[in-house]
Amino acid sequence: MKPYPLYVFDAYGTLFDVHSAVGRHRDLVGAQADKLTDLWRTKQLEYTWTRSLMGAHRDFADLTEEALDFAAARCGGLSPSARAQLLSAYETLDAFADVAPTLKALKARGARLVILSNGTPAMLARAIESAGLADLLDRSLSVESVGVFKTDARAYDLVERTYGLAPNEVSFQSSNRWDVAGAAKFGFRTVWINRARAPDEYGDLRPAAILDGLAGLADL
Ligand code: LAC
Repeated sequence: MKPYPLYVFDAYGTLFDVHSAVGRHRDLVGAQADKLTDLWRTKQLEYTWTRSLMGAHRDFADLTEEALDFAAARCGGLSPSARAQLLSAYETLDAFADVAPTLKALKARGARLVILSNGTPAMLARAIESAGLADLLDRSLSVESVGVFKTDARAYDLVERTYGLAPNEVSFQSSNRWDVAGAAKFGFRTVWINRARAPDEYGDLRPAAILDGLAGLADL
């Protein structure tokens, strides 16, 4: 495949490990830690889709809190201090080990590297800074500027409005298969980073390539 002038990355789950917040505080959560972290993510995403369909936007920071409260209520509850520590950890999630080397390799070829995320500008700035990725990324685009979440086309169109490239000149990477479907529908070249080794879905909206992690991206 040809090199692309612009690589656009989903943030949560693709660059940042959303399970690293609970991972750091398993002792606070107890035996239901795995259930809680899965439910936290599942409800957070559900809220983005339902609110976009309803036209009742709230930002991703608020939805992240709301989702944690639901997950905690389902998993035996959390003390106020444990809740605060998990939310604080969510602001400084671990980046996956393959992120920095891949961004460096793409940057060395002159590609521009951008995040397109449901996260708020403040969430993204904090996560990028704490993961030490600030020098590797050109900028981050937050759906907050359009007030609707992915997979609405207005979210992907932020890339077009910012860079003026044709959609097929953009390589879009996400670990979230639903996000890949939305980006493929929009017209981007898509790469599904299937970190969870999940079965494929959205058969009419296929990625151009599937990788286990970001490592092979620069070779596509
Ligand atoms: C994001 C979420 C959906 O970063 O992972 O947009």
